[in-house]
Amino acid sequence: MAKTRTQFVCQQCGSVQLKWMGRCPDCNEWNTFVEVIEPQASKKDRTAFGGPRAVPTRLSDVKTDRLDRIPMAMQEFSRVLGGGIVPGCLVLVSGDPGIGKSTLLMQVATQIADTHGPVLYVSGEESAQQIKMRAERLGTGGDQLYLLTETDLDEVLIHIENLKPRLAIIDSIQTMQVDDLTSAAGSISQVRECAARLQSLAKSTGASIFLVGHVTKSGSIAGPKVLEHIVDTVLYLEGDRFHSYRLLRSTKNRFGATDEVGVFEMRGNGMVEVANPSEAFLAERLPTASGSSIAVTMEGTRPLLVEVQALCSTSAFGLPRRTANGLDINRLLLISAVLSKRVGLKLGDQDIFANVIGGLHIGEPAADLATACSIASSMRDLPVAADLVMIGEVGLSGELRTVGQLPARLNEAAKLGFRRALVPRTYRLQDAPSDKIEIVMARSVGEALAIALMKSS
Ligand code: TYD
Ligand code: MG
Repeated sequence: MAKTRTQFVCQQCGSVQLKWMGRCPDCNEWNTFVEVIEPQASKKDRTAFGGPRAVPTRLSDVKTDRLDRIPMAMQEFSRVLGGGIVPGCLVLVSGDPGIGKSTLLMQVATQIADTHGPVLYVSGEESAQQIKMRAERLGTGGDQLYLLTETDLDEVLIHIENLKPRLAIIDSIQTMQVDDLTSAAGSISQVRECAARLQSLAKSTGASIFLVGHVTKSGSIAGPKVLEHIVDTVLYLEGDRFHSYRLLRSTKNRFGATDEVGVFEMRGNGMVEVANPSEAFLAERLPTASGSSIAVTMEGTRPLLVEVQALCSTSAFGLPRRTANGLDINRLLLISAVLSKRVGLKLGDQDIFANVIGGLHIGEPAADLATACSIASSMRDLPVAADLVMIGEVGLSGELRTVGQLPARLNEAAKLGFRRALVPRTYRLQDAPSDKIEIVMARSVGEALAIALMKSS
């Protein structure tokens, strides 16, 4: 390996120093120095990704056969990656501790080992016994699955080169360390250097490498997003610890579309794919209860039906509370204000609790109308019609605004047996799958409530 020297670079102004400093002498910022390795290799040896020296090539002559993807048995995972594992890709799988990253990757490792050849599972966090115990719980562990408990990255690289696995899993990147850097494992410089070396190995050997990355308190992956630039694909495994559903999302993918979502359920014997998530999310719904309506949200290209619940109760204190679970609190405040001002609901002395079922988080405004209907339904104690789904953004004047990808949402609602969809009046009917589902239009929240809330007889 080339001889290396380390230096310290200010992340703020780029000033280079030979020793670490608390305060940058150039820009006077504190705590900005990060240790980096300065390669001593001559310019002649330096090539992109450690491959042979590149020469300009015609685009038409570039072969794409390296993109023959390794098919995966887990369709949900495969779709998020863009249709299988690309040989030589570096994938970051991150998520909160305990969410199921090791479990999911152990399942993937076994499946690939059973069908496509050797897989190396490198753990810097757990002992071989612990991993074996998990594998037994998952009912997995074939001949071609190799375990390595090691935190020295250079050792790991040697083992990958020798074993030539189809897939290597590094659990986790924050425990790996290179000797050339003096900083501790998990620091920005270590994480970045380790990932860069793994990237170059993946590209030169064609082995696919999955990295597990922990999410820090602030929600970004340790080493403030540094990893995301180095890797080819970034996957987030998210979900509520107290619910069994887990969503695998891709936020960056050099080999496919982003914004795809795979849905899993954590069970006693590992992660199980949920092929029809909308059905699962609606399974426990009480159609006759007030304060519940169905929204159709998009997760990437995939429509999902979710139940949005609300409960209004008279506040015991002067200042009423607003609590949002799975929804943006600011949207809840906005919708409550619109309902008070434009529809005349007296929410001023009401505590409002809004909740999305299944531990999902809805970020998009398409669920506004369902939230508004749930609040009004709870307030007036009238149930929302059971065969109705609601799609629409609520504006400040109480108007309903159209949202994207309506046909896909309507199709999904029809597939699950809903007979009517309440949409904003601006929607062009010719795009609607109107043979499958009846489209009911409303111009404002007030109009929508008149349609949605069933009058008590
Ligand atoms: P783990 O994969 O270790 O999480 P991570 O690597 O993201 O930190 O999984 C942690 C939790 O999952 C743990 O609390 C136990 C639970 N679990 C199951 O519910 N079923 C299973 O089959 C396994 C292996 C774990
Ligand atoms: Mg783990």
